Amino acid sequence: MKHFMITVAFILFATITVNSMDKKIIRISTERTDLVLQVAENGRLYQSYLGERLLNDADLDELDWSIHPASDASVSRRGWEVYSGSGNEDFFEPAVAITHNDGNPSTWLYYVSSSSHPVDGGVQTDIVLRDDKYPVNVTLHYVAYVKENVIKTWSEISHQEKKPVTLSAYASTMLYFSRPSYYLTEFSSDWAKEAQMSTQQLLFGKKVIDTKLGSRAAMHTHPFFIVGLEQPACERQGEVLMGTLGWTGNFRFTFEVDNVGNLRIIPGINPTASEYTLKRGEVFVTPEFIFTLSSEGTGKGSRDLQEWARKYQLKDGNGSRLTLLNNWENTGFDFNQEILTELMKEAKDLGVDMFLLDDGWFGNKYPRKDDKAGLGDWEVTHDKLPGGIHALTDAAREAGVKFGLWIEPEMVNPKSELFEKHPDWAIHYPNRDVYYYRNQLVLDLSNPVVQDYVYGVVDNLLKENPDIAYFKWDCNSPITNIYSPYLKSEQGRLYIDHVRGVYNVLKRVKENYPEVPMMLCSGGGARCDYEALKYFTEFWCSDNTDPVERIYIQWGFSHFFPAKAMCAHVTSWNKNASIKFRTDVASMCKLGFDLGLKELTADELLYCQTAVANWKRLSPVILDGTQYRLVSPYESNHMAVNYVSTDSKKAVLFAYDIHPRFQEKLMPVKLQGIDPYKHYKVEEINLMPNGKSVLAGNGKVFSGDYLMKVGLHVFGFNSMQSHVIELTSVE
Ligand code: GLA
Repeated sequence: MKHFMITVAFILFATITVNSMDKKIIRISTERTDLVLQVAENGRLYQSYLGERLLNDADLDELDWSIHPASDASVSRRGWEVYSGSGNEDFFEPAVAITHNDGNPSTWLYYVSSSSHPVDGGVQTDIVLRDDKYPVNVTLHYVAYVKENVIKTWSEISHQEKKPVTLSAYASTMLYFSRPSYYLTEFSSDWAKEAQMSTQQLLFGKKVIDTKLGSRAAMHTHPFFIVGLEQPACERQGEVLMGTLGWTGNFRFTFEVDNVGNLRIIPGINPTASEYTLKRGEVFVTPEFIFTLSSEGTGKGSRDLQEWARKYQLKDGNGSRLTLLNNWENTGFDFNQEILTELMKEAKDLGVDMFLLDDGWFGNKYPRKDDKAGLGDWEVTHDKLPGGIHALTDAAREAGVKFGLWIEPEMVNPKSELFEKHPDWAIHYPNRDVYYYRNQLVLDLSNPVVQDYVYGVVDNLLKENPDIAYFKWDCNSPITNIYSPYLKSEQGRLYIDHVRGVYNVLKRVKENYPEVPMMLCSGGGARCDYEALKYFTEFWCSDNTDPVERIYIQWGFSHFFPAKAMCAHVTSWNKNASIKFRTDVASMCKLGFDLGLKELTADELLYCQTAVANWKRLSPVILDGTQYRLVSPYESNHMAVNYVSTDSKKAVLFAYDIHPRFQEKLMPVKLQGIDPYKHYKVEEINLMPNGKSVLAGNGKVFSGDYLMKVGLHVFGFNSMQSHVIELTSVE
């Protein structure tokens, strides 16, 4: 059946290559978007259209890239080249820059051929370009996911020159727009401040968003953005481009508005400090740039990306997820076998699926009793945990929960046996004082031997302890002291080959242990890109678990990621917020807990147990349903979001009062995405024991139409209050 669907999609959306009126046209289409490329008279490839899907095939003939405003009519070829090379008549940023063996820094690419074939979810188009003076080939790849309206694109660069060439630009792609105005929404970040949204108009000149952190894409900004076309991005209307790069390292997005007001967007690996020597026959594969063009605002764009991610990108995107109790916020490094055994029982009592042991369980010569030592020595600390991991997995089994484990295998503390044995495995300068981030260094994963070692950390743990059911894989340091003892004179490859080394390890883990779910973590949410998420079932959004802050952080991430991929834990951050508020905020994502249950009163514990049971019951709606962002915390003192099951028989509405003012006008919340012709029973859940719902509509039945057009009064005047409302179709 799947094959049949793929073939049908291919027949309907096969890349059309038209040769009408001597124009060669390549059309890359989803159900709602067309990207049209055209081979011009000079034999080079230009973008002639990127926008809403065109209804009439005949209109393709009318498209011509040269209709776009150009700065100089006599050289109207300026701009719009799909993969512009350095040194041509375009004076703006190129996609690719190569210094050839003879020192010539120019690359002009001519169309050679194109083909397309069906892939899961859509159609892949491959276009071959070649330089006419140098043996350099570039292949552009596009996968159009037809129904989800997502396009993924990447490029491959190779050559047959005698000696290596040097690459100084290697974008994933280039996209062009000609609109009256452009507005960029970016997602700035820092530790505990992830995914903060801000918007600015793009005027003449260049705006660059980039990172140079090496081992993690994010921290100061995330690898995704939104461009509002003709107006700032809105949730429910207007045209927006939402793009993200699958690269767990230095990235760069360049937005350039030229002298005639055209915008070009160039996503790719950040070439800073990365002049890449490419050997003859070697293929440089750029990261995937994934984008959707929505004509119904960011809400629709996010829903498409979320669905696409679950179906085609995220590890085990269709599978279920484990609720858990973690010990990091509760015990820190201070635990032993008895304490952990007790926590496993608490996990069971709470009703979650798993106990997750965090940092601090390893190292003997240099035990990991704080963050200053031990990273690299992945052997249980015998004094602390004399029974080893076995005793822990046994205790978990006895308690009736699964057992998960924290690791940070890409790192080393100088105070470790690993560093004593292999100082040359760590990235650091041979001739300067070493500087540290969290007292650690990054292992040099450009070195295949180090890749084997890192893979071995996971492999050994799982071979010796097959009952480990989950990993939290952390990465707490950017690359510091950027010098690879392995790459020697080819240091320009380090930032890139290191990340490829990380992927080599992750590929092996996934191939050999496909069933083991893993959380991607990086000092909070500094790693959250779609290449890494091929290997991880979920990511940790932030170490900041203050529910007020989390409302903003989760709102930001939801623009690009499904709730299923976003881990949210109930902790003791912001104790002024009730346990109900903290839990209700975490419940809109993948729910977990990280606090001492002994801190809770009997009523609070009972509340949590009920909330866990409710979340598990409703997880098909929250994790696999469709998400609608209803009320933005950036535009009000509240936030609301609802999820609808795929058959639209169930919905869950989460509503939060953050810090409302007494004077403000409270508006009803209008739901979205439910069936207007169905009737829904409205029931408030997640109430404190003996608590009663104060919602006017509680227990009543309303039509979907009413709920979407009139709405429910769910907001109040008190700080940090929340309501979780279950809607069930009564037909
Ligand atoms: C990082 C993670 C935390 C925790 C600590 C342990 O900061 O984000 O959740 O695992 O490491 O050292």
